[in-house]
Amino acid sequence: MTTTTSTPRAVDVAAAGDVPERGRLVVEIDGTTTVGIFRFGGRLYAWENRCAHQGGPACQGRIISRVRERLDEGKRSLGLRFDEDTMHVVCPWHGYEYDVTTGRHPGVPGASLRSFPVVEEEGRIRVTV
Ligand code: FES
Repeated sequence: MTTTTSTPRAVDVAAAGDVPERGRLVVEIDGTTTVGIFRFGGRLYAWENRCAHQGGPACQGRIISRVRERLDEGKRSLGLRFDEDTMHVVCPWHGYEYDVTTGRHPGVPGASLRSFPVVEEEGRIRVTV
């Protein structure tokens, strides 16, 4: 049996300006891995474009703020509101949502996206795969 291992390496994938605040860029690396790069709060995050549910292209879905329900003292609903301090991406296949800063689904324990190290240097974005 032959085991192959590859050494992680940083790949230049885009110009820094290609991912604006609250924006996203999906790139394919080496024809094998597709990564979604997000910028939120000035930081970059990189996630594999593969949903934990059934493998859908989670990083290519709609970007929204988290929806929170406001409750009164009796736990009665006062309606829903968008939490602008969060940024979620919604998988286009069945609606799993992921917080782009953690890669986790807010309501399904264990459902998360695979992360990749990402850095911004000299005006370029590099992802380590
Ligand atoms: S594959 Fe993403 S929600 Fe089902």
